[in-house]
Amino acid sequence: MGGPVVLISSSIVQPGNSDQSGQTKIHLTPFDLSLLQIDCPQRGLLFPKPDQDFKLISRLKSSLSTALEIYFPFAGRLAKVENLEDNTVSFHTDCDGSGARFLHAEAKSLSVSDIVQPHGEVPDFIKHFFPADGLKNSDGLTEPLLAVQVTEMKDGVFLGYYYNHMVADGVSVWNFLHTWSMICSSGSSSGHQPLVLKRWFLQGVNYPIHIPVSEAERPPPQPSRELSSVPVMQDRVFHFTKKNISDLKAKANSEVGSSDTNISSLQAVSAHMWRSIIRHSALTGEGETHCKVVVDLRQRVNPPLENDCFGNMVYITPATTTVEELLGRGLVGLLCK
Ligand SMILES: *[C@@H]1O[C@H](CO)[C@@H](O)[C@H](O)[C@H]1NC(C)=O
Ligand SMILES: *[C@@H]1O[C@H](CO)[C@@H](O)[C@H](O)[C@H]1NC(C)=O
Repeated sequence: MGGPVVLISSSIVQPGNSDQSGQTKIHLTPFDLSLLQIDCPQRGLLFPKPDQDFKLISRLKSSLSTALEIYFPFAGRLAKVENLEDNTVSFHTDCDGSGARFLHAEAKSLSVSDIVQPHGEVPDFIKHFFPADGLKNSDGLTEPLLAVQVTEMKDGVFLGYYYNHMVADGVSVWNFLHTWSMICSSGSSSGHQPLVLKRWFLQGVNYPIHIPVSEAERPPPQPSRELSSVPVMQDRVFHFTKKNISDLKAKANSEVGSSDTNISSLQAVSAHMWRSIIRHSALTGEGETHCKVVVDLRQRVNPPLENDCFGNMVYITPATTTVEELLGRGLVGLLCK
């Protein structure tokens, strides 16, 4: 933490009733393990400041404890097992109720308007609103699998969080946040269903999966942005209006010109972003460019999984083309490749 953000307290929140789960070990799938060395995802939510008598911090903490009774994997840690017989290692989630981290911070000199700037500029201090300082998923062996940082500002509250991607994906985290929010506003967890775990392995895959020791080792730290030889990128927020999105979608679909394919809004906006970024970069001609898309596999595996099943069920798939091809065709040229 730093700049205008001051840490008030840091604590560990444990599930209220940690033996409710009856499940102590969750084996990780190849999808999970492929994320071992990537950064923990971080997100943030911005709220108006509640009344003084709402007792925000103590309410958030006690409701988090209740939410973790249901979402017990977030309160665990990763565990590594050494397989001496073939000199490999295996990982699982140990649902041991160790708890999630809760940070309370204050940024009394900052307002919501300092964060949400008119032309999408991203202020430098924003990094202090998030709890994961360069954490990789593999750090879940010792670090909490979920951490939240609640920063109180002049006129708002920012809730920054990270989660360990080997344990959950965006769909699961969003369900968790929704449940936590309901418990926080109602003060009770009644009516919430127990968690549906994914329990999914390809037929014929023996688990726990054995991976080479070298893949389980944390890569050496990258030089920080300031010291790196790669030009420093500037963060920017882009805002698409509803009309922008429907225009892009209509444009892409008119380029297809056939009713056999429907281009979705997400596809049209992603293609537009990819082309715009490359058009404004210094890349040219035969240079390769990649666009990585995160795919939710719940409905794509056989048999399909329930939409709200908990776990990590995403796969990162790259699309690759040359700059020439990317810029030389319309929106759809890419999508149909
Ligand atoms: C989105 O809409 C605004 C306002 O109408 C316009 O200026 C802008 O060019 C549009 N952007 C795209 C990508 O269509
Ligand atoms: C595309 O969308 C239209 C309108 O929603 C629908 O009638 C049509 O069946 C869709 N086509 C395909 C191939 O999904």
